[in-house]
Amino acid sequence: MEIIQVTFIQPNGDVLSYDARPGDTLMEVAVDNGVDGILAQCGGGCSCCTCHCWVDAEWADKLPSAQPEEADLLSYAPGWRDTSRLACQIRLKAEHDGLTVRVPGVEP
Ligand code: FES
Repeated sequence: MEIIQVTFIQPNGDVLSYDARPGDTLMEVAVDNGVDGILAQCGGGCSCCTCHCWVDAEWADKLPSAQPEEADLLSYAPGWRDTSRLACQIRLKAEHDGLTVRVPGVEP
């Protein structure tokens, strides 16, 4: 199976890239690799907001739009921006190789 890479940029500027398999969610990659700031407390149930991330502008249009449930929850996310997404709702595909997101670094 094809392996892709996704990158998380921490609030302090640290850039960390990880291998990922298409079919995984971005949240699963973060949790499997212990990415700071992605707590994923609800385990991907789209009900906690602790997997909030900011998608890099160049990627924002390349992902499927947030479903209403995600968009609704995101409106409560501390540090919400136009490019905010819940990492658990981003299911990775091969064409997402190079996807880059920022960890907001604000308390949920
Ligand atoms: Fe809870 Fe994404 S893990 S909303």
